Amino acid sequence: MQSLPNTAYASPVVFEREMQRAFSPENGLKYVGHDILLPLGGHRRSDGDERLVLTRDPDGSVHLLANLCTHACRPILSHDEPINKPRLACEFHDWSFRSDGSLIGGANFDLGRGDAAEARRDALKIPGFDLLSWHGFHFAVDPDQRDSYAADLARIDSDFAERGVDQWLDLDDCVLHSTHDDPYYGDWKAFLEVFGDCYHVPPYHPGLASFVDCGSIEWTFGENFHAQFLTLSDERGATSAKYAEWADGLDVYYAKRGEPTPRMGVGWVGIYPNLMFEVYNGLRVLSVIVPTGFGEYINRVHYCVPADMETLVPGLAQSIVDAFEETVVEDHDLVERRHDGMVTARSLGLTFDNYSANLAGLSLEAGVSHFHDWWNRRVGVPEPSLS
Ligand SMILES: [Fe+2]
Repeated sequence: MQSLPNTAYASPVVFEREMQRAFSPENGLKYVGHDILLPLGGHRRSDGDERLVLTRDPDGSVHLLANLCTHACRPILSHDEPINKPRLACEFHDWSFRSDGSLIGGANFDLGRGDAAEARRDALKIPGFDLLSWHGFHFAVDPDQRDSYAADLARIDSDFAERGVDQWLDLDDCVLHSTHDDPYYGDWKAFLEVFGDCYHVPPYHPGLASFVDCGSIEWTFGENFHAQFLTLSDERGATSAKYAEWADGLDVYYAKRGEPTPRMGVGWVGIYPNLMFEVYNGLRVLSVIVPTGFGEYINRVHYCVPADMETLVPGLAQSIVDAFEETVVEDHDLVERRHDGMVTARSLGLTFDNYSANLAGLSLEAGVSHFHDWWNRRVGVPEPSLS
């Protein structure tokens, strides 16, 4: 295991390489959306990639298409609102397409009849990309590597099943509580590093550290993901009013369901390059890192809560989200301060590698090293002649 050299960060050449090698829908595996965001019989822009559109048929099957009209290459959708219509319609010349991308027609436009006309119609189909779906998540996938990626995701199923919470991976019994975009500056990798770093939780997140027990951490790893499992803490959120409401509210919620409160507190799953699925007892968070340009990105967050929670314990869902956001505010500082420090190191002419993961004891930073290893395999710092 080797941490990334400082030349891996804040480099426009490296950023371009990352976009091609890690964020392209044709290379590897990349999250593009989830069923909870997609209307049946409708479509919407990909979750975090404005170049793509997801369509969802009434039977639940999903297609991933380029967000481009084949008439004159303009984007079909310029917003992220779900559209409850099966057909994609380009507003400029009224060209329309079926959910599989095939062309229906356009304003005052006649392809004619016969084989030549059909061939032309086929050529005007919106290009599509291969999808791999898992618990309602949809990933663009390199078709040649589909089986290995599917096996990797299946490993996550096993990890959750071993802990008796495999049903938490499904959002079928959840509703979308809210979504927001949180802008960040710096290198997007700093966010993934913080996600793989449980080392900072005890000293830096008093609320979270009193809600889940960092001493109980168990790591699991696949080629393209890492997961951390922590049980609930006996402190029951003692150092944060909101986390205490979360801990107490769970007992009320499960009692009303006639079930014991599960001991599992959270499974934090990071699927590279940019999806984090935070599977809490009482909350699911889909968090997507979306680079918006060199040195800037957003963290798009979707909060999902059990559909019966508001009825059984009014106000609990909001308290849980409020508790989570206490930690988000702290982490925002943690992420951007790393960028600030790297800028300072460069300005002082210091060239030491600027991450020394602590892999002793409970290996609370094991996820950082795993992410770095993945990045070195998938992207890698270019040879000097290329930079
Ligand atoms: Fe944190």
